Amino acid sequence: MPNIYKFNIGNDFVAKASHAIEAFIEEQGEKSLRIALSGGSSPKAVYEKLAKSETIDWSRIELFQVDERYLPIDSDNLNAKLIRDSLTSKIPELKAFHTMDTSQTIEKTRADYEKKILKLNRPFFDLVLLGLGTDGHTASLFPNGPELEEVEKMVVSSKSPIPPINRLSLTYPAIMSSQKIIFLVRGANKKEIVKKWLKEDSDTEEIPARVILNHSDVDIFYDYSN
Ligand code: 6PG
Repeated sequence: MPNIYKFNIGNDFVAKASHAIEAFIEEQGEKSLRIALSGGSSPKAVYEKLAKSETIDWSRIELFQVDERYLPIDSDNLNAKLIRDSLTSKIPELKAFHTMDTSQTIEKTRADYEKKILKLNRPFFDLVLLGLGTDGHTASLFPNGPELEEVEKMVVSSKSPIPPINRLSLTYPAIMSSQKIIFLVRGANKKEIVKKWLKEDSDTEEIPARVILNHSDVDIFYDYSN
């Protein structure tokens, strides 16, 4: 079962979640690390806090994207833009930030990013940071979407029920190939879905994020303050 940390003060959520990420990185010693980051609004303040970390040696960390919205490369709504603005633009010493290049067709974007992932040793990631949507989606794996059945591809294109519709996402097999998974979840409007998500018998087609709880090392940080 996952470790669950609940917060009713937003600042506490940001402080504790970023501290947990820093502590995990520190525990890994001197080795190079690969961390996959989600977009959405929940992780933004945590990324900003991590950008100011005094303990993280970014020169040995490669960042990847968990998912992306298939939008023009200069769009303000790209997850890569959120990650750049809140984190990577502030840490010049970062080893690398591997993004999905949406200036190409969606299939080429998918295939190129998948090639990059397949070159990695397993587990692909040391840490994956995920979010949770009010409908139970995580990454860009949506309720009842065909992408939930994907067992061979590491990256898929998918369709979100709400705009922007066209998405790209790591699949379950890629996300599960990680030493540790941390969910960063914010919103009083997610109380109901969080309750359903944590029920052992919840339907994995209805709540795709449920599948990830089968991983052996999952922490959930949930801020229900607003
Ligand atoms: C995105 C995400 C997505 C996100 C959830 C939760 O492209 O939006 O990467 O999977 O994690 O939708 O989003 P919020 O944190 O904004 O609620």
